[in-house]
Amino acid sequence: MQKYYYPPEWFIELKQKNDIVSTVSRYLTLTRKGRTLWACCPFHHEKTPSFAVNEENQFYHCFGCGESGDAITFVSKMENCSKGKAIEILAEKCGMKLPEKSGDFELIEKRKKEKEQMISALNEAKEFYKQSLYNRNAKIAQDYLKKRQFKKSDLENFEIGFANRNSVVKHLLDKHFSEEILIKAGICGKYGNRLFDLISDRLVFPIINSFGDCVGFSGRTLKLDDKTKYRNTPQTPVFDKGSCIYGIHLFKEIKKEKNITKIIIVEGQIDVIKMTSAGLTPTVACMGTALTDKHAKELKRYCDEIVLCFDGDSAGQKATERAIPILLDAGLNVKVVKLPNGNDPDECIKLLGAEKMQILVDNAMPYVEYLLETKKEKYNLKNNDDKGKYIKEALTVVSKLKTASEQEIYIKHLSNLTDVAVSTLKRDLHIADENTVSLQDVDVLSLKEYGNIKAVKYILLALKEQKSYATESFLIEKYILHPTYNSIYRKLMNKEENFDEEEIEVLNSLKELDKSILDENFYRECQFKIYENVLKDKQQVLSEKYKACENIEERKNISNEILEIIKKLKNKQID
Ligand code: UTP
Ligand code: MN
Repeated sequence: MQKYYYPPEWFIELKQKNDIVSTVSRYLTLTRKGRTLWACCPFHHEKTPSFAVNEENQFYHCFGCGESGDAITFVSKMENCSKGKAIEILAEKCGMKLPEKSGDFELIEKRKKEKEQMISALNEAKEFYKQSLYNRNAKIAQDYLKKRQFKKSDLENFEIGFANRNSVVKHLLDKHFSEEILIKAGICGKYGNRLFDLISDRLVFPIINSFGDCVGFSGRTLKLDDKTKYRNTPQTPVFDKGSCIYGIHLFKEIKKEKNITKIIIVEGQIDVIKMTSAGLTPTVACMGTALTDKHAKELKRYCDEIVLCFDGDSAGQKATERAIPILLDAGLNVKVVKLPNGNDPDECIKLLGAEKMQILVDNAMPYVEYLLETKKEKYNLKNNDDKGKYIKEALTVVSKLKTASEQEIYIKHLSNLTDVAVSTLKRDLHIADENTVSLQDVDVLSLKEYGNIKAVKYILLALKEQKSYATESFLIEKYILHPTYNSIYRKLMNKEENFDEEEIEVLNSLKELDKSILDENFYRECQFKIYENVLKDKQQVLSEKYKACENIEERKNISNEILEIIKKLKNKQID
């Protein structure tokens, strides 16, 4: 979390003058329903509004993609700028003069300058490596590229180069970059008094961010006996491995030709290059790390669907299973390509040709199908004990699906696989399902929206069924944030029957719920689940506020508020 270097009184005034509703309204048209204002979320594609602004607590939250924050975060996301810049924009909007720069502010400026210098050193190094590829002493690299069948256009698109031994450092020092900057940018290291290239005798793949700037390198060895196949730039102020996406710099070009509807993720950068070369675009890779939620969020900015195309070996399978929940959590739809015989995409294209590869990608399996298949491989379905275990695992996957029709499709699939009747599987599914809603599984809890809407639905069902424990108090009304559900709730409580079309649709969908699990205890759990989500959002906003605050008195107040929330969460008391 970045620290704000402004006097606290100034900062508080800024926040008071830029309330969340008017700030958001400058960018989006908000519609008020009850205490909450709604719009279509600017951070992901959607047709019906799930972006909610909470005026009372001064934060926004999108129930679709999970983005949330205050007025400052909102502006920084919309303007694609730092929080510092967002504060400047807000100050100007309300006519507040920026405070005198403090020593800390200078430090930030210094860091910013340093980052700019690192980027320009990295860009210069990239150019140098590229030219080096055509030197006479680069024959080993040229031969290698030929052997691996790289095309000229591949070299150009991905700006591939060659790192000779200890020459980039000399070149950059000649260009007047300081030693300090070269070390900080991860281009070279220092041994005693001597500077040396961190990547040498290797083929170089520059890592280029979405702005087209080089932020690091990945160097592939050209020797057979080298234990380190790839040597990558270490983590630096401009190169964050957990969020960096290889291949993203080509998106702008790709967009000119076609609408990006899905992104293919592969494991290695050579795979990215070969897929791109074969016309399978956009394809990206995470740089030498496993996929993180930061990668997922970034990808979600471009489209709604991911095709995982990892190596067809057991490591690739593990990576796929790890990646799926992370992508789903970011609101992405996931499909999986299972590559034959342990091959990677590069080898597949070589073996099958681009067209067949395209067919594999076009026919990627929905992730549920993939999980059901791979989980099956762990068990011997001829053994009844194993079969039982497999069904249990498979049903947990199915129970996380959002709609009954999706569940039905996979229940049938599972029934075919196991020879257990659909009706029996359905009964078992409700046990798995009940766990989901009764929130014993912390992992499932992270599917926040799912749990929440499902809990709301059970609340509505109880009301519709006129259960006395449900009709006795309006306790939960203000916490049901979704306007349609809130309106249904109020109408049911007041025994009104003037439901509109959308509301009738929701009421009809209640038929899919399992009435048999509904009792007073379960109802209370659902109520608390809804309340808990609201509290947790509030807690998040407060802790951001806390970190940003420098005034001791104010900090104490905020921490008291946070403690209050934690207490409520613990006591499971709704107020
Ligand atoms: P692979 O070992 O699958 O390499 O690593 P590859 O991409 O197929 O490369 P070739 O075809 O053998 O030349 C996949 C990715 O894992 C990271 C790299 O990003 C690589 O592209 N990796 C691998 C490293 O960072 N370091 C390593 O030593 C190996
Ligand atoms: Mn490979």
